[in-house]
Amino acid sequence: MIFSVAPMMDWTDRHCRFFHRSISLRARLFTEMVSTVAVLRGDHERLLSFDEAEHPVALQLGGSNPAHLAASARIGERWGYDEINLNCGCPSDRVREGSFGACLMAEPALVADCVRAMVEAVAVPVTVKHRIGLGRDESYAMVRDFVGTVSEAGCGIFYVHARNAWLDGLNPKENRTIPPLRYDVVHRLKRDFPALEIHLNGGLVDHDQIARAGAGLDGAMVGRAAYDTPWLLAEVDFRYGGAEAPELTRERVIERMVAYSRRQIARDVPLRCITRHMLGLFNGEAGARAWRRTLSDVARLRGNDPDLLWSAYDALQASAASVARAA
Ligand SMILES: Cc1cc2nc3c(=O)[nH]c(=O)nc-3n(C[C@H](O)[C@H](O)[C@H](O)COP(=O)(O)O)c2cc1C
Repeated sequence: MIFSVAPMMDWTDRHCRFFHRSISLRARLFTEMVSTVAVLRGDHERLLSFDEAEHPVALQLGGSNPAHLAASARIGERWGYDEINLNCGCPSDRVREGSFGACLMAEPALVADCVRAMVEAVAVPVTVKHRIGLGRDESYAMVRDFVGTVSEAGCGIFYVHARNAWLDGLNPKENRTIPPLRYDVVHRLKRDFPALEIHLNGGLVDHDQIARAGAGLDGAMVGRAAYDTPWLLAEVDFRYGGAEAPELTRERVIERMVAYSRRQIARDVPLRCITRHMLGLFNGEAGARAWRRTLSDVARLRGNDPDLLWSAYDALQASAASVARAA
């Protein structure tokens, strides 16, 4: 079973991915969605650059024009991405270039053209992330035909967010909570397409649940839970990768992130752009609130001193000790 952290706009940027990679060496990581319009406009350094340590990392593209997707995929491959993923699951509004995201599920032939063009353009795997249906229509035929058509075009890996996208009336956030999760549909896809790599996504929060819900599937993709409780990633390498049980500690992760922050600050990246992804590192532990409070202190963040991470850790320990004394 492969574990991946879902693409999340504004969240899984390069700093977030480096942080996640400092906890798990094996989790598959994804960029935020990048539209082909943005890729083809240029500014690749800002949009596409990442740290070598982040591998394996997939570039997620948004678009629906086969030629634009092929050109963007080629650029992504040149930048070193290990996989190019097409977003067919985001309930986004129409953009200038045309429609993309979840509404593409209604156009499997177009998605097949897009995938075919990308597969011809690059040597790395071309994959698709999608929903299980559109609107209130819960029939299986639509997603089955979608996966069937798209796989014939050369896509062998599908990340399936196990809920419909309701494109009328719900905003993107509601579209991640209100349409019901139906894991059985994902299992049915695996039964009908046993040769494809099928990953389950949506509502997964811990490893025991993944073991139950993902049994028989090829992978589990976790979004919000991995971002909110990143220590979830500490078990990934030995649970899914056959590595030794981890000796990793959160202190070691802080050490890595302090060193990384120094390098990034030297390139004019503000400290807060890195630490904002780390607020959840101690979630569930005594003193977690003191950690978060220190790392949210705007005045101290402005100092751009990576040792703020150690100050936050000291604050956490002091808070945990005072709670222990009071108990
Ligand atoms: C803040 C946020 C941004 C997201 N941005 C993207 C995106 O850019 N591309 C995409 O395919 N899905 C995006 N998603 C959806 C997630 O990849 C995932 O499918 C969804 O959150 C369900 O998984 P979860 O229940 O484990 O969070 C986003 C989700 C969140 C919470």
